[in-house]
Amino acid sequence: MNRRHFIYLAGLLSLGISCSALPVLRMKPVLRLKDPAGPDDLPAHIFYLASLAPSSHNTQPWFLQRQSEKSWLLSLDQKRCLPAADPSCREMFLSLGAFMENLLQAAPLYGCDASYSVSSTSPLRLRIGLQPTGSLPDETQSWLLKRRRTLRRNLLPSPLTAAEQSYILGDDRLSTFFPRASTAGQTIAELTRTANQNQSRNPAIQEELSRWIRWQHVDQQRFQDGLSPETMEMDFWLKWLAEYFIQPKDVLSSFFQKSSLEQIETQVKESAGWIICRSSSEQPADLLETGRRMEALWLRAAAHNLALHPMSQALEETGCCQQLEKTLALPNIQFLARIGHCAAYPPPVSLRRPLKNIV
Ligand SMILES: Cc1cc2nc3c(=O)[nH]c(=O)nc-3n(C[C@H](O)[C@H](O)[C@H](O)COP(=O)(O)O)c2cc1C
Repeated sequence: MNRRHFIYLAGLLSLGISCSALPVLRMKPVLRLKDPAGPDDLPAHIFYLASLAPSSHNTQPWFLQRQSEKSWLLSLDQKRCLPAADPSCREMFLSLGAFMENLLQAAPLYGCDASYSVSSTSPLRLRIGLQPTGSLPDETQSWLLKRRRTLRRNLLPSPLTAAEQSYILGDDRLSTFFPRASTAGQTIAELTRTANQNQSRNPAIQEELSRWIRWQHVDQQRFQDGLSPETMEMDFWLKWLAEYFIQPKDVLSSFFQKSSLEQIETQVKESAGWIICRSSSEQPADLLETGRRMEALWLRAAAHNLALHPMSQALEETGCCQQLEKTLALPNIQFLARIGHCAAYPPPVSLRRPLKNIV
């Protein structure tokens, strides 16, 4: 090899290494923050675990104000609501209820008694009290709150056993499981298809969704909320494309809409069946209570390695929702999700805002 060949080859080699190393290095996922609280800051540990609750589009619509050493006010952060997809804030109250359920389950793990009361005036506010009981913290039990996640892909078609069904439903009389192949299961799948098709033609809903997708690492790091390629369970190459080439406005393109509908088609054919959670009325306080039951059910499912994937579109489209409630003869359906076994229950990947931005 002469000198000219050597320089040429060395140049090509270093260009190749830098081109392939750069994306690989930057493809390291942004990780969810660990519990940041010091050992004595019991409320901070509890609020951290509460913030691991699910929320629609991962908007994390909770806002806490400290009132005294032992009491806080929890309210809905209006800037984090979804006026196009969820104009009545139904899903936001469910998310706030999930936050409360986590908080109530977390408090005893950190030696505290938690209590709350709901304001009767509008807007809805919750007064939360945390009283140390003197018992020693036992944070080993926090694993379940840290483990729960949404799983959107590869739910297995195997049916749930009778024992699994009765465990996940517990004594929740307003929640029901429908096997996928049942008439009710097929109706839910059909209405979910229709609702997704309607929404793909609704620019307001699509624009709102695009505002909550964090395609790039820099946005994931900056906002620590919303949906990321990681949470949407994209494969490596799609994630790579998302990092370098996909823009928020691409969500509105016909190519994106077509692939989303294809994915919905696959999803409604997977899983063991559907879970629905109902409320006793449409009042915010009842929606909050339904959010608590929804999260308690989701945690029981996670404890048994059962994947859960909410699919809210049929409830967001008024016509589909009315038809669903009429066909199933069940009023006030607030939450709809696919449920099923999964080959593995991977660790959660959705991000959470730091506590200082919540409290
Ligand atoms: C009320 C509610 C409705 C939701 N609706 C959907 C949905 O329609 N489609 C979906 O993929 N995920 C849905 N989710 C799941 C959220 O996107 C998810 O909880 C959030 O991204 C946080 O991720 P995690 O559950 O893994 O912590 C919903 C969650 C809640 C609480």
